[in-house]
Amino acid sequence: MSSLPALDLLDAPANGTENDLAGRFVTDRRPRISLQQVTKVYGHGSGAVAALDPIDLSVRPRDFVCLVGASGCGKSTLLNLVAGLDPPTGGRLEVNGRAALMFQESALFPWLTVSGNVELALRLQGVPRMARRTRAAELLHTVHLEGFGRKRPHELSGGMRQRVALARAFAQDADILLMDEPFGALDAMTRDLLHDELEALWRDRDLTVLFVTHNVREAVRLADRIVLLTSRPGRIEAEFPIDIERPRRIESPEVSSLASVITDRLREEVRRHADA
Ligand SMILES: Nc1ncnc2c1ncn2[C@@H]1O[C@H](COP(=O)(O)OP(=O)(O)OP(=O)(O)O)[C@@H](O)[C@H]1O
Ligand SMILES: [Mg+2]
Repeated sequence: MSSLPALDLLDAPANGTENDLAGRFVTDRRPRISLQQVTKVYGHGSGAVAALDPIDLSVRPRDFVCLVGASGCGKSTLLNLVAGLDPPTGGRLEVNGRAALMFQESALFPWLTVSGNVELALRLQGVPRMARRTRAAELLHTVHLEGFGRKRPHELSGGMRQRVALARAFAQDADILLMDEPFGALDAMTRDLLHDELEALWRDRDLTVLFVTHNVREAVRLADRIVLLTSRPGRIEAEFPIDIERPRRIESPEVSSLASVITDRLREEVRRHADA
């Protein structure tokens, strides 16, 4: 593959290295994200809502994991726990590395320009002003928003705002990208382009991605592994390794046929929950 990134990782002892599925070198075997018997209950007493039943999940460096499950099954809850926005009720949660979170809504600062929103993430890392400008312009180009840097978020469409949020997430130069249905509001063409950009970023950097989506095809297009959650309270119902060769196309027969197997399983789970 053209991308043998992070050659500095090769400094580690040879006996610690191993090739992953894409043929890249992986040295740090410590999981980036580890959940052991993690639970989450919102509220107390009779009003308590059990959002997550005990969850065991381990995400290694450079894994691209997609979480799928019915609405309300606890996907955002799980992401928020990993992001440290909310504590788990029980169990053990470990996150090794810096995480950037991209929400279901773009959550931009309305008083900053598009470029200002991206530059803020760079400023927080101490990047000097001129370098911030240049990097923000590059990132806006990556998400196909060149020329929009001086606009304010309210002057953009919902999909464009989501692309700014993606540029801002990229700007954080995080080890872990936590993405909560980031592309749900986009048209198919833009979404395909951003899938490509996200995949390139993941491949070229030492990045771990935990990505929530309702769209099983999108999950098969992107993931190394799909984790299917049960309806609330969320538990891991099944895991599917995705071995389809990259680059993948969302409309390819391989992606479609695996997506329909996983969708059937999801449908079964939703039906079982409705009957319970
Ligand atoms: N802050 C909160 N306080 C109380 N209950 C909450 C809170 N956040 C989520 N819940 C409840 O926890 C459950 C899981 O919610 P969550 O947002 O994690 O679902 P989800 O899988 O992300 O759903 P969707 O696919 O619709 O985004 C839901 O029943 C929800 O009502
Ligand atoms: Mg959600």
